[in-house]
Amino acid sequence: MTFIKNFEYVLGRDKKEINKFGKIGCGYLGKTIVQMGATFSLTNNIYMDLAKPHIVLVCGKRGTGKSYTLSVIAEEITLFSKQIGKNIAGVMFDTMGIFWSMLYPNYQDADLVKSSGLQPQGVPVNIFINEKSIEKYNSLGIKYKGLIKLAVGELSVVDWALIFRLDINSEEGILLQKVLANIIDKKKEFDLDNIIAAIEKTKANEKAKLLLANLFEGAKGWGLFDSKGTPIDQIVLPGEVAIVDVSTFEFLYGWSVRALVIGLILRKIFDARVTARKIDESEQMSHYIPNVKPPTMEKFKYLPQVVALIDEVHEFIASDTETPATKPLLQWIREGRQPGLTLIMATQEPGILSPTVLSQVDIVISHLLTSKKDIEALRSVAQTYMHYDIAEYFSTLPRVKGVCLILDDNSEKLYTLRVRPKLSWHAGASPNILDKEINKDKFIYK
Ligand SMILES: Nc1ncnc2c1ncn2[C@@H]1O[C@H](COP(=O)(O)OP(=O)(O)OP(=O)(O)O)[C@@H](O)[C@H]1O
Ligand SMILES: [Mg+2]
Repeated sequence: MTFIKNFEYVLGRDKKEINKFGKIGCGYLGKTIVQMGATFSLTNNIYMDLAKPHIVLVCGKRGTGKSYTLSVIAEEITLFSKQIGKNIAGVMFDTMGIFWSMLYPNYQDADLVKSSGLQPQGVPVNIFINEKSIEKYNSLGIKYKGLIKLAVGELSVVDWALIFRLDINSEEGILLQKVLANIIDKKKEFDLDNIIAAIEKTKANEKAKLLLANLFEGAKGWGLFDSKGTPIDQIVLPGEVAIVDVSTFEFLYGWSVRALVIGLILRKIFDARVTARKIDESEQMSHYIPNVKPPTMEKFKYLPQVVALIDEVHEFIASDTETPATKPLLQWIREGRQPGLTLIMATQEPGILSPTVLSQVDIVISHLLTSKKDIEALRSVAQTYMHYDIAEYFSTLPRVKGVCLILDDNSEKLYTLRVRPKLSWHAGASPNILDKEINKDKFIYK
């Protein structure tokens, strides 16, 4: 049994860990739902472990509360004490441009927040945006912390081929490989103009040269590339949550530019955390073994453990398409445990995700699903501790926003939960023209 005191539950911890740590380093998610006849009541508190690495899937059909749940988890990271917070950071990839509103208190649902024993409050998230959105953010008076820039030299041939949708074996693809190999040999840092100049100098089919040079010329207008990228330790800050607004990145190439931003940031975090773990290990060893000295931190970009939250993840790691974020996501999923990386992914369509995601998740938070394919996907992760079919559990859930079913491999339990109300403003609601009119004295029905 995984009760802690007063019948509170902790997701993501086994009995031994609960005995040792209780709910320290956990985020408060909401309350369990208990059905009594025709009524439902909210009873025991549920917390989620954020102190050690997890792979979490948040799913549910349109408008059931996935983005809301992600921001509840992000809020919890900002609320950690200094002692816990210095060891953990959150990075939320905002695919719809909705999470900026977390800076403001949730006055729209103030009654609900207060009835849960909480107070509406904005949380101090750090917003990172595309250079192209500066004007929009300024005109709306939204404070942002910095710009997202990617270093041209950090992109591989495969990254470019994926965003430009080039076949690596086509004439343009082969030219791209040649040009990049040449530049990388000569320079460590370079920009798009250097690539265009190198294309022009290379002996190759003129049509292929023109096409490739035009693609890079176009990319200059995205406001994304520079010879130096935004340093990862400026985005990932201990105890803080970065919101990376990828919603306004170039859409001409579908989601691939957004995927590129996500993929490169995930890659940088992974590499920095592998180094950080070495620092941690030698620090630990130095207490036991006299000739092991802990490395001096200044030489490295020391990052705390990271919880990455990604909305609409099926756009980046579906089973049938590769994007520039696919490999970095798979790396986090397969190898992220040792460097202490937690991935929390939300999707409307668990049924189209790469099977690796489904086989590695240890916590599933599922809001209502009705499509056969998606229920089937959850069935594939259903565990021996489930007594009934997953569809039966869904049929008993009350049809209220934020209600979900949780499968937790760590405690080997299934829970029904209503996610707590957000403290901060949620900008992801469906717009309704009547909301704008509701405060008017006269309402004309037509
Ligand atoms: N835990 C909750 N408590 C109260 N209201 C909630 C809760 N979760 C969601 N809602 C309400 O439901 C609305 C839709 O939630 P949300 O934006 O998270 O949907 P979604 O599942 O992300 O939808 P989509 O698939 O379209 O992105 C919110 O605007 C909010 O009003
Ligand atoms: Mg959403």
